Amino acid sequence: MTSNEQTPSGNSSLATTDGELERFENPGFPEHGHRLTDIDPIAAKRSERQIAGLFVVSMLGTLLFIVSYFVFTPEESMSSIRVSNLMLGLGMGISLFAIGVAAVLWAKNLMPDHEFVEERHDIHGSEEDQAVALEIINQGKEESGIARRPLIRNTLIAAMALMPLPAVLVFRDLGPLPGNKLHETLWDKGIRLAKDPGGIPESPGLIKASDVTIGSVFHVIPENLHDAEHALEEKAKSAVLLMRLDPSDLKEDEDRKSWSYNGIVAYSKICTHVGCPVALYEHQTHHLLCPCHQSTFDVTEHCKVIFGPAKRPLPQLPITVDSEGYLVAQSDFPEPVGASFWELNQK
Ligand code: FES
Repeated sequence: MTSNEQTPSGNSSLATTDGELERFENPGFPEHGHRLTDIDPIAAKRSERQIAGLFVVSMLGTLLFIVSYFVFTPEESMSSIRVSNLMLGLGMGISLFAIGVAAVLWAKNLMPDHEFVEERHDIHGSEEDQAVALEIINQGKEESGIARRPLIRNTLIAAMALMPLPAVLVFRDLGPLPGNKLHETLWDKGIRLAKDPGGIPESPGLIKASDVTIGSVFHVIPENLHDAEHALEEKAKSAVLLMRLDPSDLKEDEDRKSWSYNGIVAYSKICTHVGCPVALYEHQTHHLLCPCHQSTFDVTEHCKVIFGPAKRPLPQLPITVDSEGYLVAQSDFPEPVGASFWELNQK
């Protein structure tokens, strides 16, 4: 019976049961075969042009992204948002894919393909090692042909120079800061609460307090949402969750007791972490859960955060009933809705 071991020199040995070592020569690598591009200058040139062409395609993809960003500006409709996302994704995909394929072709067809063994050595490098490393880098530079192939080098530089531009555009979308936009929503004194979906002119879905039974939950929008100029944007800020609890379960602060009506409470649906819609209500515990990162809010205590990354409670919408028994807002939210931001407390 034998076991196989590798010696530092690369030779292998077979350990026999009687302790004798039987050495044999390292067979080495198979003979190196030449690629077409190694022996045929025309094939090498063709490959060079293909690679450069792919870098050009990458540039076109980047330009497609930039042009699409301005031409397919998303409007209010979902279809325009889809078209915009499609064109941006297409541009970015083409740009990255072409650079990737070009790099693979360059390495496979034009760079040296000799296999070699590199022995392990200490991790830290002496000055001599560093000099050797520098020499290897220079050798790599020489072997890649980047100095000798200006067509590839220049198209690569151009493609890489254009690559960050989409990121600049995407970062542009992060600004400007929201300013007062999140301080103001469509809610105002006397605006009735309407069911979502259903809050449309033909079927306003208005909610009477008498229709809200204990334990029920409604997704709510302001009745005037359909009149808003930017309805989608306004809905994203004004969405509300309405719940009715047994009034004895509510632990309300003295100054906020008038913000609820007979155990009916309304809170912003926009998570204060990074703005996902909070939509999971647990009847037994009266907890609201955000599905994105599991922030959990306690409805009995003004939606304070009891778990997860959110840093502040969901803003409460003060509500009451009007003369016809419909639920109405007493005012706008007293604080900005959604994710926290630098200017949260400045108005
Ligand atoms: S967005 Fe709600 S927990 Fe992150």
